[in-house]
Amino acid sequence: PAGHVYVSRALTDAAMRRLAELDVPVVVHPDPDRPPTRAELLAGVPGAVAVVALLTERIDAELLDAAGDQLRVVANVAVGFDNVDVAEAARRGVVVTNTPGVLDEATADLAFGLVLAVARRIVEADRFLRTGAPWSWAPTMFTGLDVSAGATLGIVGLGRIGTAVARRARAFRMRVLATGRRAHGPEAAALGVRPSTMDELLERSDVVSLHCPLTPDTHHLIDGAALARMRRTAILVNTARGPVVDEAALVEALRDGVIAGAGLDVFEDEPEVHPGLLELDNVVLVPHIGSAGLATRDAMGVLAVDNVAAVLSGRAPLTPVTA
Ligand code: GLV
Ligand code: GLV
Repeated sequence: PAGHVYVSRALTDAAMRRLAELDVPVVVHPDPDRPPTRAELLAGVPGAVAVVALLTERIDAELLDAAGDQLRVVANVAVGFDNVDVAEAARRGVVVTNTPGVLDEATADLAFGLVLAVARRIVEADRFLRTGAPWSWAPTMFTGLDVSAGATLGIVGLGRIGTAVARRARAFRMRVLATGRRAHGPEAAALGVRPSTMDELLERSDVVSLHCPLTPDTHHLIDGAALARMRRTAILVNTARGPVVDEAALVEALRDGVIAGAGLDVFEDEPEVHPGLLELDNVVLVPHIGSAGLATRDAMGVLAVDNVAAVLSGRAPLTPVTA
């Protein structure tokens, strides 16, 4: 087809090689260290038959109009697609795809890493050791939550990633509660997951881990009221999307001891991080690296390119999304 593939950020080598195999010119945003500005994005897409986008790019009516009628597919290199106006794309006959499945284990690993890091105060203890302050083994030094002593994990949104987290929790002999479409299914039952209401999950969990997509329904799902329902000893982990949590309310809750700690991979206004979070010892903060396994990032990029290849050759996309 006439037109180019616009890629908003250089992907891994494996994905770039796959892209080069397509019989279509490829235009890549030249700076690998930052996303395109809005103006650069709007200037890059006119005439494109495909756009390979990251979650940092807002794909909306204005961008789809700027691209033009020949645009066939937007391939988002992420499982989440809240950055894409899927309804506007559908109205124009543009296919939207994401990268589900290939990042479940990597993201679950990071979520569980945050659980352990916050529960056992690993980062806080590391910071302490680096100060050079004198210390000796002491009965109460850096004591934290015993994850493996029957603690309860609440999984908000038991989908593919949440299920992968439940498998890890089972190995740690945690009790697992979950909300979401799969919580009543056979796989959940086999993992010993108990379906739960949101309120019950918040009230009973020692650790609450978020694995729902960002939608109008889940925006600020964890607000001041939800935090107040949680245990004062509880930990919140978010590897989903920042706006699922009211970040200002979370800062207050962490400051006031409404909950005990948080592990955050995502933020409400990325790349900004609420300054209140940076001042707190009881939080572990990482820059949206949930899927950042080497092989996982290859698989995500290759799947996005395979979706482009499928649509441009008239085949069905591998992993389409719908509004
Ligand atoms: C990353 O956040 C993703 O949605 O894949
Ligand atoms: C701790 O290091 C112990 O030996 O119990």
